[in-house]
Amino acid sequence: MQAGVIGGYRRWKMLFLLPLAMAIGTGAARAQPPRKPAAPAKRFDLIRWNHGQFIYGADYYPEAWPERQWEQDARRMQAAGINFVRLGEFAWVKMEPAEGRFDFAWLDRALQVLAAHGIRAVLGTPTAAPPAWLYAKYPDIAAVNREGIRYRFGSRRNYSLLNPHFLAATRAIVTAEAEHYKNNPAVLGFQIDNELGNPYCYDHYCRAAFQAWLRRKYHRLDALNRAWGTIFWGHTYTAWTEIPLPWNTLFGVVNPSLALDYDRFFSQTTRRYLDFQARILRRIAPAKAITTNEMGMFDAVDYSRLNTAIDFAAWDNYPMFDQRHSDYFGPALAHDLMRGSKAGRNFMVMEEEAGLPGWTTFWGRQAAPRLYRVWAYQAIAHGADGVCYFRWRTSRYGTEQYWQGILDQDSVLNQRYRVIARMGREVRRLTPLIEGTRVAARIALLVSPASRWAFHIQPLTKNFDYNRQLERYYAAFRRRRANVDVVFPQQDFSRYKVLVAPSLFAASAGLARKLTRFVAAGGVLVLTYRSGVKDAHNVFTRRTLPGRFARLAGIAIHDYDPQTTQKQTILMAGARYPAGVWFDILTPAGARVLATYGQNYYAGKPAATLNRFGRGAVIYVGTEPETDAFYDRLALLAAKQAGIGLGARLPAGVEEASRKKAGEKLLFLLNYTGRPQRVRITAAARNALTGGREGPQIELPAYGVRVLRLAGAGGG
Ligand code: GLA
Repeated sequence: MQAGVIGGYRRWKMLFLLPLAMAIGTGAARAQPPRKPAAPAKRFDLIRWNHGQFIYGADYYPEAWPERQWEQDARRMQAAGINFVRLGEFAWVKMEPAEGRFDFAWLDRALQVLAAHGIRAVLGTPTAAPPAWLYAKYPDIAAVNREGIRYRFGSRRNYSLLNPHFLAATRAIVTAEAEHYKNNPAVLGFQIDNELGNPYCYDHYCRAAFQAWLRRKYHRLDALNRAWGTIFWGHTYTAWTEIPLPWNTLFGVVNPSLALDYDRFFSQTTRRYLDFQARILRRIAPAKAITTNEMGMFDAVDYSRLNTAIDFAAWDNYPMFDQRHSDYFGPALAHDLMRGSKAGRNFMVMEEEAGLPGWTTFWGRQAAPRLYRVWAYQAIAHGADGVCYFRWRTSRYGTEQYWQGILDQDSVLNQRYRVIARMGREVRRLTPLIEGTRVAARIALLVSPASRWAFHIQPLTKNFDYNRQLERYYAAFRRRRANVDVVFPQQDFSRYKVLVAPSLFAASAGLARKLTRFVAAGGVLVLTYRSGVKDAHNVFTRRTLPGRFARLAGIAIHDYDPQTTQKQTILMAGARYPAGVWFDILTPAGARVLATYGQNYYAGKPAATLNRFGRGAVIYVGTEPETDAFYDRLALLAAKQAGIGLGARLPAGVEEASRKKAGEKLLFLLNYTGRPQRVRITAAARNALTGGREGPQIELPAYGVRVLRLAGAGGG
């Protein structure tokens, strides 16, 4: 049911919380934050940063509760093992009640109460919630939608990233906060803003900045005209100032090349806004760490580029709100993507679901309280060195009165609190084992931000979903216990044995060369339909499809059948699998046929192929099979080609993941179901909490977890 609603949540945020900035005032060049990036720490160890403790926390809003309650809150947090809070990310008006008048006394008192109970904090820079007085004084900081209509005050993050008044106000509050807390030992660091990534910006400042960005990219207007193919419909530009922002055109169509450059520009502009704050913080408070809370699969921003500016990645995980594919492989993939977005380094969850998600008009699903422990272990299993629950207590006010925290408004110590307190005790015992371990994988998924944007600009069919493909291939390897990394095009992926790169729609020549080298050196590459169609400018290739990948995949595609409703069957090794979305009709040119279509005028024609290339192989799947059975088979085939073994298939609702350091491996077995489950492991193990011997048969209770220590470290 809510899968659709839930899956649409981030998109909902994008579409309706995506306000833009209004257009008056001076040139954008002046409005833009400086371009020089802030320098993050080379290596960052979260546990060391938190004084040797695993970060176990809650997002806390003391400003919304009577001060007399703070002491009891802090005591109860400490009793639950909480040693960390995030504070203040929406408290701009409390910190700066009038322009230039700062008041941190209340926050100092809150920090003091918390510190007395061993709890340290990350402070939000509060720019996600500009005060009403700021909007009143500078109305043009308010975002406008893509039709040019300005939003009213009353939500959050509805500001223009490039508005000079907003940037000046940002500088003032961030400077004051950094100055005030640079030497406070209870403050570990700063979270910049909150869930950066919208509003998209379409105002006057933004348009001028976009034109300046294009000028820097193309240098000459005729180069831009050529790259974008503006000859189509006579869109040729004769001056940089003629170039519009995308959308809000008749029929809602736009030059796909312009739109893709806009997406890049917006992603970089977001990064520059983050840099703008990071530079202030680093200059004034160099001893404090910097992060920002992100949104997993959210794709308006290329996190892999944003995160080079911060010390560690952090994200907000709501399995019962945001999940589509499942309530465990969905978050698992998002954890892995977040880890991958910071080059594989350990991360933290800044907001971990702690109760029913619900905004004013929509709800997620209620979870069995024991799942809050399972999800915390899941985060750890995927490389988190910190878990912070959102939020300590449900709000009495505003949009999120239905979004449950650990405690409800009545502050009764409920079942969720007891579950989280149990986890707090366990994680403290496990910290020495967890510290220094990393996720190791031999299989990776390649996420292409350019392709994701290009598909938003020109969606293939109604039911096309880039992320769903990631999830399907991901889940197949995870069902057989393999750790999976997520990598981005500019990163090094040469160490992997298998690389799955679904629908590599807009691929640069450089990426195609890199993938060719990967395969030639022995890697197994899985490509799927609609790969190699566009170049980096989102212009259709003049080569035979799959374009730059045709030789690598040993196929040609002269015909395809986009389907929104009609299904197909494909036949592979004697079995039939339903398929949908898109059907590439493949002509082998050296490749061996793996699967054929069952219906329509192309019945019997190849649907999937395997091509040996150099020392490796390329599997091309021209459609989207719809059952797990297909992906299970394909995962086995890809692993076999790569010479790696996969584990025995796990029961549905059970996950296995591991972290390791020299000589030791921690294995996490997680049961997301309300029934006991039985899993076999192959190596001798000890229970990491009790020290007792375990295996080979492991009995997992309903919503149960087992953390095992394995002697010697195997592969991923
Ligand atoms: C996000 C935000 C939080 C809160 C939660 C629940 O992840 O960062 O401030 O709004 O969602 O909606």
